[in-house]
Amino acid sequence: MRQCYRISLLALLGSMAVLAGCDTSTMGQHVIQTPNGSSIIRQTDQTLVSQGQVVFQKHCAFCHGDQAQGDPEWRKRGPDGLFPPPPLNGSGHAWHHPTRQLREMIRNGSPPGQGNMPAWGDKLTPAEIDAVIAWFQSLWPDPVYAAWFDREERFQ
Ligand code: HEC
Repeated sequence: MRQCYRISLLALLGSMAVLAGCDTSTMGQHVIQTPNGSSIIRQTDQTLVSQGQVVFQKHCAFCHGDQAQGDPEWRKRGPDGLFPPPPLNGSGHAWHHPTRQLREMIRNGSPPGQGNMPAWGDKLTPAEIDAVIAWFQSLWPDPVYAAWFDREERFQ
């Protein structure tokens, strides 16, 4: 029941956006199933994703790679005892983290002794941080996004 409700609510919001004259041509969407059995609408806001890509290429690609592919050795501490930059393209474990945690990690950077990720809280606005998350999430294959969504729901 609840899943049907969620879908119809999103569909309703979508049609309201059309009625309100919003440009929905930049919104890609399709339905996916999550491991918990929910049907959700995966929606990509292309404008937000493009803004996020600019932020990423400027500030993050230097370490995480221009396609967010990360360092191939990201699982092991390097000679400096710190973890190299992990992939953010869905092949790492960024999907374990709900949005709230991703925002915090980006705002605060690496905890001491873990990595050399700088803190972005005083350099990027909350909107830029959300855009950059939207960009790297747009790279995640559907099964990865679906698994993330279940955790997002659980840890809201
Ligand atoms: C100087 C290199 C460097 C830059 C620049 C950098 N990062 Fe990182 N980032 C790292 C390292 C190293 C880690 C892993 C160590 C850690 O978790 O503290 C990491 C971890 C992360 C994680 C957690 C991933 C996970 O799997 O848990 C996210 C999310 C992230 N970075 C996003 C960003 C974003 C967004 C930017 C740009 C605004 C950025 N990083 C810029 C080095 C960097």
